[in-house]
Amino acid sequence: MTAVIRLRQGVRALIALIFAPSVDYDAVARALTLSQVALFKRLLRAEQLHSLRVLRAVLAQDTVTPPALAVAALLHDIGKVRYPVGLIGKMLPVLVKRISPRLVRRLSDGNPENRFIRPFVVYLHHPAWSSELITKDGGSPDAAWLAAHHADDADRWRNHPLYAQILRLQAADDRN
Ligand SMILES: [Fe+2]
Ligand SMILES: [Fe+2]
Repeated sequence: MTAVIRLRQGVRALIALIFAPSVDYDAVARALTLSQVALFKRLLRAEQLHSLRVLRAVLAQDTVTPPALAVAALLHDIGKVRYPVGLIGKMLPVLVKRISPRLVRRLSDGNPENRFIRPFVVYLHHPAWSSELITKDGGSPDAAWLAAHHADDADRWRNHPLYAQILRLQAADDRN
């Protein structure tokens, strides 16, 4: 994800903070089970709004959307609930990555209890945490896989049966 996209997400998060638009929980309930809705509600408001924009973008891509893709659209970032990170913390790893990807990787293996290290740990590990939480909640293996790999270089998965879906999820995530 480029710094420009992340900065745009930061501005949107700031707008969400100031204007507090309501979250369309009806749309959420149409895609998720009751326990998944409860999980979704643990996200910060700005993250809920981001996830809903991702869902809308995914639904607009095609007349058919597999249920697992809709679940992943709403819960791909759910791992972030483990260690909430503020607005500046969210932008920090993306900016540092432009200077030194190696430093980001090194910091991401640090202790998330440390407030300065935490954004880096969350940045790199939240897809795996999202996948774990979806699985623990009884979600489908496809939804868990899509969440686990939403930040990967999609080329890696060219021969995977969910390749078309990971492309859809990433396109929607990047634009929102
Ligand atoms: Fe993410
Ligand atoms: Fe996202």
